[in-house]
Amino acid sequence: MRLSPRLKTISKFVEKDTLVADIGTDHGYIPVYLIEKGIAKEVIASDVNKAPLESAKGYILKKGLENKIETRLGNGLKVLKPREVDTVIIAGMGGILISEILSESSMIVKDIKNFILQPMVASEQLRRYLYNNNFKIIDEKLAKEDNRYYEIIKVQLGKDNIEDPIFLEIGKKLLENKDPLLDSFLAKKLKKIRKILKNIEENGNVFRNDKYNKLKIKYNKIKRMKESI
Ligand SMILES: C[S@@+](CC[C@H](N)C(=O)[O-])C[C@H]1O[C@@H](n2cnc3c(N)ncnc32)[C@H](O)[C@@H]1O
Repeated sequence: MRLSPRLKTISKFVEKDTLVADIGTDHGYIPVYLIEKGIAKEVIASDVNKAPLESAKGYILKKGLENKIETRLGNGLKVLKPREVDTVIIAGMGGILISEILSESSMIVKDIKNFILQPMVASEQLRRYLYNNNFKIIDEKLAKEDNRYYEIIKVQLGKDNIEDPIFLEIGKKLLENKDPLLDSFLAKKLKKIRKILKNIEENGNVFRNDKYNKLKIKYNKIKRMKESI
């Protein structure tokens, strides 16, 4: 079975012989891959909506893996009992929804060893939530599909501190690891900021514009970061 770069990168963060829950599984590709590759021992595949869960069920049956992958219908981590799994994957949702799912189930969260989170948007808000709620980012990777970048964040419980707010937007681990996609990821961010700066320059008074000044500082930080890799 071939996975897309995004799903494959998510799977790379799963440790061998673990018990995994894939929350919001939809098609069920991650659970099937983790079992077929002998990475996970067992997986609970859940979804809050019936139709995606049915599609996952169909795929799991087709692969003959129903004895290794259990499907459950329900909201977030509420489908789990304490200590049932050691790894939780929440991928392909917005960063705010991911943080809500975590905050709604503190009794489940406290016994999970690894969380693998992949926000489609609002990664900055998700990292802020993690830093403020006793989660520690232990690793990050980027994946790219077509012209879109995906941030995949591996998290454990524990205290972490952040030296600069720029690391809410750009994962510090990406820089420490010199992620192979970081240079082009930053180039894309710089291009986007340049466009906004230019717009403000053409349409207003840049000197008294707070947004402009903040963006300019951010632009220079990211530029220096890009030069340092
Ligand atoms: C875009 S799909 C992502 C599927 C897969 N995880 C991936 O990354 O390719 C998002 C899935 O999350 C499910 N979902 C949304 N909110 C959820 C929640 N609170 N609990 C469980 N599943 C949820 C949706 O029904 C949908 O099937």
